[in-house]
Amino acid sequence: MNARTDTDGSTPNRGVLLDMVRHASRAPSSHNTQPWLFRLQDDAIDLVADRTRALPANDPDDRELTLSCGCALLHLRVAAAHAGFQSIVQHAPEPADEDWLATVHLAKGRADLHDARLFDAIGLRRTWRQRFVPRPLAPEYLQQFAELAAEEGAWLHVLHPEPFRSAAADLVAEGDACLWSDPRWRRELAAWMHPRRRGDGLQVPALARPLAQAVVRTFDMGQGIAAKDRQLAEASPVLAVIGTSGDAPEDWLRAGQALGRILLSACLNGIQASYLNQPVQVPALRLKLQHLIGRPGFVQLLLRLGYADGDCAASPRRPVEDLLDAAG
Ligand SMILES: Cc1cc2nc3c(=O)[nH]c(=O)nc-3n(C[C@H](O)[C@H](O)[C@H](O)COP(=O)(O)O)c2cc1C
Repeated sequence: MNARTDTDGSTPNRGVLLDMVRHASRAPSSHNTQPWLFRLQDDAIDLVADRTRALPANDPDDRELTLSCGCALLHLRVAAAHAGFQSIVQHAPEPADEDWLATVHLAKGRADLHDARLFDAIGLRRTWRQRFVPRPLAPEYLQQFAELAAEEGAWLHVLHPEPFRSAAADLVAEGDACLWSDPRWRRELAAWMHPRRRGDGLQVPALARPLAQAVVRTFDMGQGIAAKDRQLAEASPVLAVIGTSGDAPEDWLRAGQALGRILLSACLNGIQASYLNQPVQVPALRLKLQHLIGRPGFVQLLLRLGYADGDCAASPRRPVEDLLDAAG
């Protein structure tokens, strides 16, 4: 008997399933909401959207929520491969149940070695919100990331320097101004920065926490944030869009898996990423960004990629017991 499997050796034991869920929950999610639940079966794990963690002002269609769940699904596949299991992924197993996003069936023995190799990056990946060091990324990486996105049924489009990069930076700044002017959006952001949050939400240095939350809730800081984000966008070694041919939950789930695969592969090569999604979150600007990159389909995320000059603390996660759906 193998310590990772039950008595007949073909299905993972509960400890291994819980470990897979723990690693799935290290995935990034908008505002660190972690909008996912997992149902454990003998030889499968169901991924369920937890819409009690939705962001109605920031993400009215649950598009980013589904993208985040897609990322968790990719992490689950990687953790399964690391534990020696092949994952057979079924999207929307019960179409009448919109929350049941996917099931990962686990088969002993034919684990994907490429996926297994990504495992070490799960604990090292961070959303890096500071400037990157001014060092370009080798074109081979960008080619590789584009291939990884395609593997998951999405695409990656790199915004080459002028005029595309500064036009995208303008859209980011416009997006900031638009989002910050909306008091509902600011209140929602402030709620996920709340000092009493445990295990989720956005990290703010302890001393600044009460003040930061009140400031975000109360003041439209759009102009200042726009100026800072424009600089970040223009100074980033790479700006790239992840997109899909369609714009339905199935596409969002695929884009999330593409994001997860790119982030973990990048991280294994010392590259981190962060997000400049503001223009994707404002419908009129999303169209402009789509037009700017000039390819058919739907933009889902705007990423910055580069080398970080240090590490930052890992953001918090909820305990694994809180992530189990009733049947788990
Ligand atoms: C779909 C999606 C959208 C996100 N959008 C933003 C964003 O607009 N701005 C930002 O700073 N971080 C964004 N993030 C990053 C999350 O805030 C981050 O993943 C979360 O705080 C957890 O931190 P970690 O990625 O370092 O583990 C996004 C993440 C995902 C998956």
